[in-house]
Amino acid sequence: MRMGMWVLALLCVYGFAWGVGADKNVRTERISGSAGDVLEDNPVGRLKVYVYELPSKYNKKLLQKEPRCLNHMFAAEIFMHRFLLSSAVRTHNPNEADWFYTPIYTTCDLTPTGLPLPFKSPRMMRSAVQLISRNWPYWNRTEGADHFFVVPHDFGACFHYQEEKAIDRGILPLLLRATLVQTFGQRNHVCLKEGSITIPPYAPPQKMQTHLIPQETPRSIFVYFRGLFYDINNDPEGGYYARGARAAVWENFKNNPLFDISTDHPTTYYEDMQRSIFCLCPLGWAPWSPRLVEAVVFGCIPVIIADDIVLPFADAIPWEEIGVFVAEEDVPNLDTILTSIPPEVILRKQRLLANPSMKWAMMFPQPAQPGDAFHQILNGLARKLPHAKSVYLKADQKILNWTAGPVGDLKPW
Ligand SMILES: *[C@@H]1O[C@H](CO)[C@@H](O)[C@H](O)[C@H]1NC(C)=O
Ligand SMILES: *[C@@H]1O[C@H](CO)[C@@H](O)[C@H](O)[C@H]1NC(C)=O
Repeated sequence: MRMGMWVLALLCVYGFAWGVGADKNVRTERISGSAGDVLEDNPVGRLKVYVYELPSKYNKKLLQKEPRCLNHMFAAEIFMHRFLLSSAVRTHNPNEADWFYTPIYTTCDLTPTGLPLPFKSPRMMRSAVQLISRNWPYWNRTEGADHFFVVPHDFGACFHYQEEKAIDRGILPLLLRATLVQTFGQRNHVCLKEGSITIPPYAPPQKMQTHLIPQETPRSIFVYFRGLFYDINNDPEGGYYARGARAAVWENFKNNPLFDISTDHPTTYYEDMQRSIFCLCPLGWAPWSPRLVEAVVFGCIPVIIADDIVLPFADAIPWEEIGVFVAEEDVPNLDTILTSIPPEVILRKQRLLANPSMKWAMMFPQPAQPGDAFHQILNGLARKLPHAKSVYLKADQKILNWTAGPVGDLKPW
């Protein structure tokens, strides 16, 4: 109780002063070390990407049939394709390419109700790899080690939305040498292989833009969260969904006045995040969600509750300095953990979040902007160059097994 009152007092003193204070000394906080500089790197001149030309059934036709794919959280695969087509790093000469890109929209196959379920993705991917390996000499040279694929589904190239099934399947065998650009990131997980590039999920930039409120608006909400606590349909007995972490948030804090938490998604959701100090970003079925992007864009300190999560562009963004990490088992102490953070630490995190380079790195805007997520992906690819000599195979050397994996995946697409 005393703790709660102390925080309310703190909110009055700092909460309402922060916006104004931050505005008065508009100076963007530099990040110590190289992180900030890496974020602002310009990839042009550091790598060349060859974009394979595929029949439109692998990409544009899917989108024509299903325009909703442009707005879901996996849309990065579409926007990355569009971006690369007109990017200065694109080369039309595959012989000078550092990286090969196969434009394939594996998540743009929705159920009638609009759910992107990746059941056909493995066959589609297989078909595309067969096609490029027959029609061009570059795949066979390395069996994909100088190729990258954007696989933004829940568990990346494991291509299943349920974790257990995804783990059973493992990464599609044909992609085991390629670099995977994916939203899924969790340490020591079969669906994240070493060398992958973890990206933010897609959140619509224009939509976020239209909900911006004046920067000096006070942050009068201490902790904010909107979303499910239980997934009754898919987890009737409880405990699996979010490994119980979201249920623990609700059980412990539903009546705590510092916590503005609910399952209702209000129309003022984006505005509310801009009025909040902390935004909870707990795992759901997968560790990631668009909340992370929204929190950064709206300057709300992300409270990351997802053990072993690998965050987007973690080699360029100083997540430890921006966010707060709370172990899943510590959720019952969330109030004490957050109220114990000294105001000067909160202010510093807010100043770092105010740095536009953080926000751009989380977004896939059209048109692209220097430092945005597209550029961070390219920077990540550039940092992997030059390829090790060992990736180039000897004539007739084969490493990948084309018939490995579930039999159903071997059917033609
Ligand atoms: C690449 O190797 C496969 C056999 O694994 C072969 O069918 C294909 O023709 C080869 N591609 C080229 C361009 O030689
Ligand atoms: C490739 O995978 C299939 C299916 O798992 C297996 O039967 C076969 O022995 C493997 N081939 C090689 C060369 O390892």
